[in-house]
Amino acid sequence: MKRTLALSLFLCAALAAQNKETVEKLAPYYPTPETIVDKMLKLGELKPGEKMFDLGSGDGRIVIMAAKKYKADSTGVEMDKDLVKQSNEGIQSSGIQKTAHIINGDIFKQDYSSANLVTVYLLPMSNDKIRPMLEQQLKKGTRIVSHDFEFKDWKAEKIENVDDDGEGRSHTLYLYRR
Ligand SMILES: C[S@@+](CC[C@H](N)C(=O)[O-])C[C@H]1O[C@@H](n2cnc3c(N)ncnc32)[C@H](O)[C@@H]1O
Repeated sequence: MKRTLALSLFLCAALAAQNKETVEKLAPYYPTPETIVDKMLKLGELKPGEKMFDLGSGDGRIVIMAAKKYKADSTGVEMDKDLVKQSNEGIQSSGIQKTAHIINGDIFKQDYSSANLVTVYLLPMSNDKIRPMLEQQLKKGTRIVSHDFEFKDWKAEKIENVDDDGEGRSHTLYLYRR
């Protein structure tokens, strides 16, 4: 009897561990400078009332500028709890809780079908990984702006090079349209 109980407890624990979600980290946290955030949203032609998503939203700076300056309905997806907390504090202090939201979750587990604009700053291999999901989910006409890394097999509509962001760093922005 004792052995049966111990065995079932062990099995339950093993099952729980197996079901525990693991989120694949597609890029480390490395924020986009504010001047470049503005250029990304401008290149993405973001308009008031449009829906935008930042995939891997870090401290929420893209989501916050999209809602505050561009009057968009913006959502960030971020796996790191501390960055989500920081983002929510920024959203609160800017008073944009109605139009800016952060999902503490996995980029791969969300629905982007309502997006007008998607922004990404991940790694080249990560863009390869999320491309099929975006191809499947995004409606025709959705714009995608990628910071520094292109999407293989997609033809960029525009490529913008910024030689110096004011801190001596150069950037490349890619605009795609589905
Ligand atoms: C290079 S940073 C970009 C942050 C922000 N988008 C910006 O441009 O300032 C990438 C972010 O993606 C997040 N991230 C990586 N993989 C993720 C995943 N599978 N789901 C959610 N967030 C993820 C990281 O925690 C990190 O904050």
